Amino acid sequence: MEEQKKSGRYQRLYDQLDELTKKSQEPIARMATICAVLHHKMDHYFWTGFYLLLEPEKLVVGPYQGPLACQELEAHKGVCWAAVDRKVPVVVENVHSFPGHIGCDSRSQSEICVPVKDKKSEIKAVFDVDSENLSSFSETDSEFLQKIMELVYR
Ligand code: SME
Repeated sequence: MEEQKKSGRYQRLYDQLDELTKKSQEPIARMATICAVLHHKMDHYFWTGFYLLLEPEKLVVGPYQGPLACQELEAHKGVCWAAVDRKVPVVVENVHSFPGHIGCDSRSQSEICVPVKDKKSEIKAVFDVDSENLSSFSETDSEFLQKIMELVYR
């Protein structure tokens, strides 16, 4: 998607999610809402979902949309754990070149994973998106998704 069109759409979805996530205080309900809205409105999203950091070494699938996903991710391996360990978004242009990438569906080609932090800045989950095309995610996705993830624990 062209960058200007993408940022316009993210801005409109942010405004919509800002309102929708006020309807529940529960992070899991907010996650489900964010996931459903983004998955159905962003053309380049193929798999969209959260992995919850339930214990320091346990990343377990949460609300998601798209094809069947891995339920638990081996600790400190792949893209989602890289986002947890680095504490910043990870953008992967080609998943096949990312060391340790965990493939839940062979159609995924590129990926972005953004940490979800609580009010104390502790990581509680990650938001992960896969695309069926290479290089689908840019700085635009990273910036808007970080802003959207702040809605989960506000
Ligand atoms: N690719 C991820 C695993 C989650 S799936 O993409 C849904 C990873 O390497 O951590």
